[in-house]
Amino acid sequence: KIIPVILSGGAGTRLWPLSRAALPKQLLPLLSEHSMLQETILRLADWPEVLAPMVVCGNDHRFLVAEQLREIQVLPHSIMLEPVGRNTAPAIAVAAYGVEEGAEDALMLVLPADHVIRDVKAFHLAVQVAAKAAAQGRLVTFGIQPSSPETGYGYIKKGDTDRVAEGSFTVQKFVEKPNRDVAEGYVASGDYFWNSGMFLFKPSAYLAELARLRPDIADITKQSFEGSYRDLDFCRLEEKSFMQCPSDSIDYAVMENTHLAALVPVDMGWNDVGSWTALWEVQSQDEAGNALRGDVYVDDVKRSLVRAEGRIVAAIGVEDLVIIETSDAVLVAHKDRAQDVKKIVDHLKRNG
Ligand code: GDD
Ligand code: MG
Repeated sequence: KIIPVILSGGAGTRLWPLSRAALPKQLLPLLSEHSMLQETILRLADWPEVLAPMVVCGNDHRFLVAEQLREIQVLPHSIMLEPVGRNTAPAIAVAAYGVEEGAEDALMLVLPADHVIRDVKAFHLAVQVAAKAAAQGRLVTFGIQPSSPETGYGYIKKGDTDRVAEGSFTVQKFVEKPNRDVAEGYVASGDYFWNSGMFLFKPSAYLAELARLRPDIADITKQSFEGSYRDLDFCRLEEKSFMQCPSDSIDYAVMENTHLAALVPVDMGWNDVGSWTALWEVQSQDEAGNALRGDVYVDDVKRSLVRAEGRIVAAIGVEDLVIIETSDAVLVAHKDRAQDVKKIVDHLKRNG
């Protein structure tokens, strides 16, 4: 059996001004009438091996998340509430303690709440393949064929020949967010995959590796889970201890250093929708390459993303732009500079 663990703690700052701290991108209906979180959970529907999902999110988002689950009629395993974000290594650790408590032999399928997967069948097949390796105590990653030297991803070098199980491979090297030069080398070599950020493992396997590599995180999260306060579906982590927890991602804390990693390569139309450009790529476009949403008028506009939430947006004779209108902020940016949207949010944070 598999328990999905959905990570819904990120801020999605590169999708400002639509994505905000109070309503981050995973809780927004970016691509369909469902939010990214709802899409992630619906993608697991009608799958007999898969049990009710656990969601790990910030305490501030508890009602929004509970409401979104209710909307799609999903009863969660639990909703784990963090007083603050401490990145994915602690978030996955508390989830692992929670999964272990109820169903010791279940595998946990860690899923970011904000990814697009076009080929759901390929995704399901990959998870089934991964389950064999995970049952052997492996920490399984899902590798995507890289199409550019992205520096925001982890890179996984596949082991040469030795297979862990049918369809899964050993990992020679895992490198989180390499610099540009290194990433270019990796992509050119053809030996590397992007880390999709999804994982499958036994909770005990993850917790044992975490205890070995980062005993501080393993201890503090255990303390916080044991001191948690339960109410209905909510499991509110004990605040004082969780606040003391160091912040680190599973990628740096565990995946770069473990010998138990395994890789399942998968081609499933994956996109992490990390920026407006990524969103433009996954949206349906007209003949001129424009992705338009809402009340939008365009004349002689090419390869642009234009999105109106409330007011009318009109654009004439421009190319490769991102134009996003919301009730209190408007973004106009060149499509090649989508990564810099983060800087606006940093600036606004500093200056109020
Ligand atoms: N609950 C919770 N708490 N969730 C969190 C937290 C947290 O403190 N921090 C991040 N998340 C969630 C995010 O919402 C997202 O769904 C997921 O965990 C991954 O976090 P990101 O911050 O988006 O990571 P990243 O994009 O920099 O890198 C990861 O994903 C890439 C693929 O998209 C890594 O795993 C990379 O190796 C990978 O290539
Ligand atoms: Mg991400």
